[in-house]
Amino acid sequence: MELPFAESYRIKMVAPIKKSTRAEREQWLKEAHYNLFNLKSDQVFIDLLTDSGTGAMSEQQWSAMMLGDESYAGASSYYNLKTAIQNILGFDYFLPTHQGRAAENVLFSVLVKEGDVVPGNSHFDTTKGHIEFRKAKAIDCTIEEAYQTELEYPFKGNVSVEKLEKVFASTDASKIKFIIVTVTNNSSGGQPVSMQNLRDVSQFAKSKGVMLIVDSARFAENAYFIKKREKGYENKSIKEIVSEMYSYADAMTMSSKKDAIVNMGGFIAMRSESLFEQASVFNIMFEGYLTYGGMSGRDMNALAQGLDEGTEFDYLETRIKQVEYLGNRLIEFGIPIQRPIGGHAVFIDAKKLLPNIAKEEFPAQTLAIELYLEAGIRGVEIGAILADRDPITRENRYPALELVRLAIPRRTYTNNHMDVVAVACKNVFDRKEKITKGCKIVKEAPIMRHFTVKIERM
Ligand code: F0G
Repeated sequence: MELPFAESYRIKMVAPIKKSTRAEREQWLKEAHYNLFNLKSDQVFIDLLTDSGTGAMSEQQWSAMMLGDESYAGASSYYNLKTAIQNILGFDYFLPTHQGRAAENVLFSVLVKEGDVVPGNSHFDTTKGHIEFRKAKAIDCTIEEAYQTELEYPFKGNVSVEKLEKVFASTDASKIKFIIVTVTNNSSGGQPVSMQNLRDVSQFAKSKGVMLIVDSARFAENAYFIKKREKGYENKSIKEIVSEMYSYADAMTMSSKKDAIVNMGGFIAMRSESLFEQASVFNIMFEGYLTYGGMSGRDMNALAQGLDEGTEFDYLETRIKQVEYLGNRLIEFGIPIQRPIGGHAVFIDAKKLLPNIAKEEFPAQTLAIELYLEAGIRGVEIGAILADRDPITRENRYPALELVRLAIPRRTYTNNHMDVVAVACKNVFDRKEKITKGCKIVKEAPIMRHFTVKIERM
């Protein structure tokens, strides 16, 4: 008999989590203005709000922290991280930042000017925020297949070169300085970008004389999918695949809180010394001196170790199999989810699950509310609330997909927790006909409103 799959680690330290009653959750959610970001973490039983900064570090990472060098300048921890970035990602220059959006802020301070256009594949909201804040435009060039949630397509994160062509044909060349490719593509469902696509986009960028920048939060999960799904990569190690992926990039922004399995941290890495010098000015201004940026020495040490562990096959297999486990349980129950199952999260198609809720009543937020009330599970809306208003017309933007993301923290929950999540989803699904009213916004911020929005149920 074939042995079943089991995790490639054992547990050494645990944190208790609390169950609650439905009546308690009703009250707490009301007090939170139906915005799940406003809940206290001990009001949540299984927290799938994000896989960002919520993973469990290894004993090697914790021991590396004890060796952190907290010198202001030239700390050994900085050089440990520099070596890891050179060896694993292949970039000679890097700047530490406190997290991914800080990397965007620093890099875009050099590269993005008013009136610019930044094409890419479903820019993450902070990426789009930093572009739009500078009065530039982010244009989504993700392939059309990404929008058909139940279509099985191996690389739904890909960039459409045809769409890129159109953007370049209709834009003054001086307005485009780079193309940004997000791996895996978070906003379209944690879907990977193929090596072929990276190669094609890189060639295209070169032909137009612009840079290719990779938003790298989940680069290792992307490499795992390339190994599993792309011909010619079956026998390559994750580190070999990662190295090839970055050979096509001129620079990268990184939120280390995902695939590098740390609780806080980020960086920018690049090939160009001149770009490094320009970005250094902003890094010193916004983040900190060049050899620590926004990070303490111990955090840089944990990150250097995390980059190594996060690009090991056994770890990635355990991680992605857990996400698949949850996805497959939902599929068994007939729940419509984004297919194939993504790397860091399962994305439920809220428009299909709650067919009675009009887009103006925010089906994904409505579903996220129902899931919390059902079992204390916190997911996140990836729909019209997240999409914000159009910066010019101020009209609500209704994206093609209304999703609830259940993001799985790394090395944190067991498959028993996944079973609870699956059954909670099934219970909501079973009473979908009775859910006829959605919700409305009563207060919102002008940009990135989803974090602080106040909502009422209709
Ligand atoms: N890029 C991508 C693709 C991301 O998913 C995120 C964060 C960022 C950039 C920004 O990084 O949070 O370190 O500042 N995503 C988190 C999420 C918040 O829940 O998906 P950050």
